Amino acid sequence: MKNSIHNICCIGAGYVGGPTMAVIADRCPHIEVNVVDINQDRINLWNSLDLNELPIFEPGLDKIIERRRNKNLFFSNDIKKQISRADMIFISVNTPTKTKGIGAGKASNLKWIEASARQVALYAKGHTIVVEKSTLPVRTAEVIKEILKSKQNSKEKHPKTSTFDVLSNPEFLSEGSAIYDLENPDRVLIGGENNSAIEKLAEIYRNWVSEEKLLQTNIWSSELAKLTANAFLAQRISSINSIGALCEATGADVREVSKAIGHDSRIGSKFLDAGPGFGGSCFKKDILNLVYLSEYFGLPEVAAFWNSVVNLNAWHQNRISKLITKNLFGTLSNKKIVVLGFAFKSNTNDTRESAAIQICKNLIEEGAALLIHDPKVSCDQIAIDLNLQPYSKKNKESNFSERNEEGNWDSIDSLENAFDGADAVLILTEWMEYKKINWRVTSNKMRKPAWLFDARSIIDPNQVLNTDINFWRIGDGVKL
Ligand code: NAD
Ligand code: UGA
Repeated sequence: MKNSIHNICCIGAGYVGGPTMAVIADRCPHIEVNVVDINQDRINLWNSLDLNELPIFEPGLDKIIERRRNKNLFFSNDIKKQISRADMIFISVNTPTKTKGIGAGKASNLKWIEASARQVALYAKGHTIVVEKSTLPVRTAEVIKEILKSKQNSKEKHPKTSTFDVLSNPEFLSEGSAIYDLENPDRVLIGGENNSAIEKLAEIYRNWVSEEKLLQTNIWSSELAKLTANAFLAQRISSINSIGALCEATGADVREVSKAIGHDSRIGSKFLDAGPGFGGSCFKKDILNLVYLSEYFGLPEVAAFWNSVVNLNAWHQNRISKLITKNLFGTLSNKKIVVLGFAFKSNTNDTRESAAIQICKNLIEEGAALLIHDPKVSCDQIAIDLNLQPYSKKNKESNFSERNEEGNWDSIDSLENAFDGADAVLILTEWMEYKKINWRVTSNKMRKPAWLFDARSIIDPNQVLNTDINFWRIGDGVKL
């Protein structure tokens, strides 16, 4: 069947909009794809000649950008023009948790969605299929339709010249494997009412996704399925982290427990790694959104059930910083701790809701001097997240490693001299390079008693066994 979509516009050039459109452009060379954003700096970075400067780090993304940019993939701020040219518009803008007003702390802030819908209502021409790509509260499509309808009824210059269909097509990619996930999705979910519109979107995906992976539902099921998928995934992490704490208390080993339960095909082995607590921009916000919806629809028990997943995660992060303090004699004052990893997981430069933020804040609060390393996260980003400038910026002349100030941090690009005189090392992100550290050599550089806290379970205990380092790892209650 000939595809009638020739021109796609995506509103929002973020972690979802950028990679998703790059893959569509790559797999559909016959379609022109325009990604637009209000953020000029972000667009400039997408257009940067140096592919290392792309605003998002995702394995494989640079190669696709190199192949398709300025051929059938374009990044610009010309929102009006690209909306007016598009047959299909993806809305892929941010939907963070509201910080004030009704539903503050739980409900999604839909102001960027509403602004996008208004832009579409204003500039779209002819018939346009509007696709919700952002993760949205169930029934948001109603709001979008309402805004688009107001254009059709308005007394503007060209009333009734534009018509719309609205579809829900939530994104299930994970950061760090976004390109792989987009190229090999477990499923593509399309929710909608109009079969012809659904068919046009399905036709795009058929260029690389097999028919059995294209799932069709009604629009509300599609919106809710996205929130539910994230809630189930996050729930597994809180579940295994809660069991990890029990393992530490009882002499069990969470890795063995995960393996044992993961062999049950009904449970499955994925997403059972105990860690420092889930981070990322979406799990917390999407569960809180589910909590808000449950409360709104008069289901307080359902709300409480899902809220406990978020509460456990926050408790767990604080538990880690508390046990570090306890093991370092109850005070971190003037103690140097090397923090390995700040991103919320490996293979991404994203720090949103990273467990490292709360844990580092707690340690600084206790008086520690943190030396933070992450191969992809900048010092500026860490300063924003911790809401604290690094020591070197505040004290240009001073040597951080002398422990002459407490409650501070600095960042390092190389691990070469990082461990000199350190009291502890804390692993918070599972970057490959941390697995290669020689703990025998490192042990000689550290102040004794020295500690290694492995919150990601990436270090083989045998590598630390005959060193002077005390070793703690997540969920490990086995006494060596
Ligand atoms: P993001 O913050 O990285 O990107 C959103 C972009 O939208 C920003 O660059 C912002 O400037 C732009 N924007 C906002 N309002 C705009 C407007 N009116 N016109 C033009 N541009 C506008 O967000 P993200 O991580 O890409 O997430 C987007 C949505 O996708 C969210 O709803 C999120 O829940 C969902 N999601 C995210 C992921 C993920 O891994 N990050 C995965 C699946 C789904
Ligand atoms: C998650 C979902 O996996 C995606 O399907 C979804 O599209 C996306 O959220 C979204 O809606 O934003 P993402 O947050 O990128 O993807 O990363 P995950 O791999 O899910 O990891 C989330 C957090 O859980 C990370 O901090 C990770 O370290 C942690 N995690 C994950 C564990 O602690 N243990 C595990 O076994 C798995």
